Amino acid sequence: MLERSSSLSLQVLRPKPPVKWAGGKTQLIPQLEPLFPKKEYNLYIEPFVGGGAVFFHLLPHQAVLIDSNEELINFYLVVRDSLEELLRALRKHKNTREYYYSIRALDPQELSPVERASRFLYLNKTAYNGLWRVNSRGQHNVPFGRYKNPKIVDEPNLRLVAKVLRNARIICDDFSRVLEFARPGTFVYLDPPYYPLSDTANFTGYTPDAFGPKDQKRLAAVFRELDRSGCLVMLSNSDTPFIRELYSGYDIQVVYARRVINCRPDRRGPVTELVIRNYR
Ligand SMILES: C[S@@+](CC[C@H](N)C(=O)[O-])C[C@H]1O[C@@H](n2cnc3c(N)ncnc32)[C@H](O)[C@@H]1O
Repeated sequence: MLERSSSLSLQVLRPKPPVKWAGGKTQLIPQLEPLFPKKEYNLYIEPFVGGGAVFFHLLPHQAVLIDSNEELINFYLVVRDSLEELLRALRKHKNTREYYYSIRALDPQELSPVERASRFLYLNKTAYNGLWRVNSRGQHNVPFGRYKNPKIVDEPNLRLVAKVLRNARIICDDFSRVLEFARPGTFVYLDPPYYPLSDTANFTGYTPDAFGPKDQKRLAAVFRELDRSGCLVMLSNSDTPFIRELYSGYDIQVVYARRVINCRPDRRGPVTELVIRNYR
C-alpha cells in the first residue's frame, strides 16, 4: 500500500488538490480518515477522481485515476508529462475581464494538450467561484470571477502534484473501467455525482451527460462486483432513502458536510452524507 509515511518529503510537503472542484472532499478528510482501510492495499483506484482530494491525501504508491471529464484528465496528464511547458504557458495569462472571455471562447478541441491544460487551470482559478461548469454543448459558461490576485501559477504545488502523479495511471473514461484494473486487495474509493436530495437540487452538471438513477444503479452493481472480487470498497453519496436502499446490507456511516450550493439560507447548515463500505 501506499506507505503513507514512507516518503518523508511527500509527507511534509503534501500537495494540495491543484483545482477547485464541485463536490471536492477536502473538508471531509478528517471525517473520512477513520473510515479508510486499516489493512494494507496494493493498488488504489479512484474512478470519479475530480479534484482528487482523497488521492492527494492518501498518496498511494500505485494508483489508477479515472474521470469522464476530458479537460480534467488532459490537465492531469499534462502536469505529469509536460510540466515545464505548462508552467511557461501559465505564466502568460492575465487577470482581466477581456482576456478571460477571450480564453473562455477558445475551443479546447483545437488547442494542443498543453494549451488546453493551461486554459483549463486559468479558467479554474479566475472563473466565478472557481467553478467548472459547461452548457449542453459542453462549452464552459462561468462568468469572470473578478479576483484581485488569483494564484494561477502555484509552481511549488504543481511540482509536487507532478511527482505524485508519476505513480498513477490516468484515464478518461466511464467509472466502470475500474473493473479492468481491480484485483484482490485493491482499495477503491468511489465519489460519484450525488443522487439529488430533492428534484430541484439536481446539480450534476460536471459533464453534458447527467448522472441519473440508472447510473446510480449501474454504480451499485459495480460496487457489488468489486466486493465479490475481493477489493476494499468505499463510496460517498447523499443521505437519501434511494441510496440507503441501493446499498442495504453494507456498512453505512453518516458524515456531516457543509453545503454551500444552496440559495435557501434555512438549508445551508450541515447536511448528512453517507459513506458506504464493504469492510469495517
Ligand atoms: C463528486 S465529483 C468527485 C469529487 C472528488 N472526490 C474531489 O474530491 O474533488 C464527481 C466526479 O465524477 C465525474 N463523473 C461524472 N460522471 C462520470 C462517469 N460516468 N464516469 C466517471 N466519472 C464521472 C465528474 O467529472 C466529477 O469529476
